[in-house]
Amino acid sequence: TNRTFTMIKPDAAQDGNSGSIIKMIEEAGFRIVALKRTQLTVERAGEFYAVHSERPFYNDLCQYMSSGPIVPMILEKENAVADFRILIGATNPANADEGTIRKLFAKSIEANAIHGSDSDENAEIEGGFFFAHTEQF
Ligand code: GTP
Ligand code: MG
Repeated sequence: TNRTFTMIKPDAAQDGNSGSIIKMIEEAGFRIVALKRTQLTVERAGEFYAVHSERPFYNDLCQYMSSGPIVPMILEKENAVADFRILIGATNPANADEGTIRKLFAKSIEANAIHGSDSDENAEIEGGFFFAHTEQF
């Protein structure tokens, strides 16, 4: 098995959709290795999304991601990174498949309910951004 990293974003956490989303994640066969509820400062959001620092939406993204509580998690499953991106659907909910988390819960291309790591390497880095090894079981 391998791991991915996710966070329920401020729009979905604010709307009270965390429980429904976590239920979908578990029903899809992912095991929760670490989970908490926390809030990013705009500076820490900027650090998390540093890879996007040259994109035109970077400042808006950092404001949005620090606008309310989030629910970061580390998840385990065979083929975790790819399977999780299928479960969440396309970045823009307008393009997301029926039954995906973003189709069900995202509001816009920015407020799109949930994050999913895009590689094993980034999953490791992103999980470490939120959780010590002593918090991963
Ligand atoms: P993540 O799982 O959150 O990384 O999403 P992704 O991999 O599907 O998309 P990407 O890494 O390209 O973009 C990161 C995040 O930036 C997205 O999830 C959106 O919240 C936001 N974003 C992406 N594209 C746009 C855009 O064109 N406009 C705005 N306002 N936000 C965007
Ligand atoms: Mg991404």
